[in-house]
Amino acid sequence: MRKKKVLLMYATMTKNTEKVAIWFREMFEYYGWDVMFLRVKANMDWASLQKDLYFDDYDLILLGSPIVGGSPLQAIIKAFSFGAGGTLEKEVQENIDENKEDASAPAVPPQGAVWRRNKAPCPGMPNHNNNRPLGVVFTTYGGGFYGSAECLATLEQMKLYLVTHDVDVIGKFSCAGKETGPAGYTVGVKPKEDFIPGHKQEGSDANVQDAEMYTLGDGSQVPGSYFFHYDCDSKPGRREEQKAKAFISDVIEDYFMTYNGVPNPPISEIISIS
Ligand SMILES: Cc1cc2nc3c(=O)[nH]c(=O)nc-3n(C[C@H](O)[C@H](O)[C@H](O)COP(=O)(O)O)c2cc1C
Repeated sequence: MRKKKVLLMYATMTKNTEKVAIWFREMFEYYGWDVMFLRVKANMDWASLQKDLYFDDYDLILLGSPIVGGSPLQAIIKAFSFGAGGTLEKEVQENIDENKEDASAPAVPPQGAVWRRNKAPCPGMPNHNNNRPLGVVFTTYGGGFYGSAECLATLEQMKLYLVTHDVDVIGKFSCAGKETGPAGYTVGVKPKEDFIPGHKQEGSDANVQDAEMYTLGDGSQVPGSYFFHYDCDSKPGRREEQKAKAFISDVIEDYFMTYNGVPNPPISEIISIS
């Protein structure tokens, strides 16, 4: 049986998402897959990587990002959208400024990566001749305000990026990652009334009660959390590692380890969101 191949792409700021990507990689290697492991950064030399970027050459495509202000990182948006992340808007504005007739004409996105070997007949038209690798999207996020509702849009956005390149997305994974924003206080520590980035211990305490204490089965006591995702400081930790590894094992075994080597059809999704 031919070795399976995965293109595992992710962006990261503080390495939480990278931890998940590395746990995924460990599992692919355990199952004997070839892994193309790629951190997507703001300034990529796409041309030198191009030979390894064609989705056509892989069985599975993974795309991961942390969440910033509700969206994937700019590096991901720029690499996968058709001109989002500023380029299109800027072009429209420049056309208006120059009083051009067709002010809303879409800009041509800057030359970046090319994800498929064969071009569609025209931009935006599906290419029915493409093979369709399966896909997985993943994120780490703070979710300190509302929990998993905060990660759904980003997962869907990244899913769209893959779907528009003829990838059938069959998996979604998210887990908490240590927060550095307003919800980034140690569990049980009373947060400040106003959050000042870089000075989060300064100012007066928020006007809330002391955290309740909870008694565990062994009699030890732990404080309640002021934010969603209990003890976010420790994440992604051992528990998230187990979830990430179990998730990707399910994807590999259920979709790819079939009796005849043909992947199962992309009718269902494997979802691990917490
Ligand atoms: C500037 C900034 C903005 C963030 N915005 C959000 C957000 O809108 N929603 C959220 O759930 N988490 C948010 N987070 C938390 C990150 O998504 C979380 O810490 C993530 O695990 C970081 O991943 P990384 O270490 O791979 O960069 C934000 C973090 C930073 C630094």
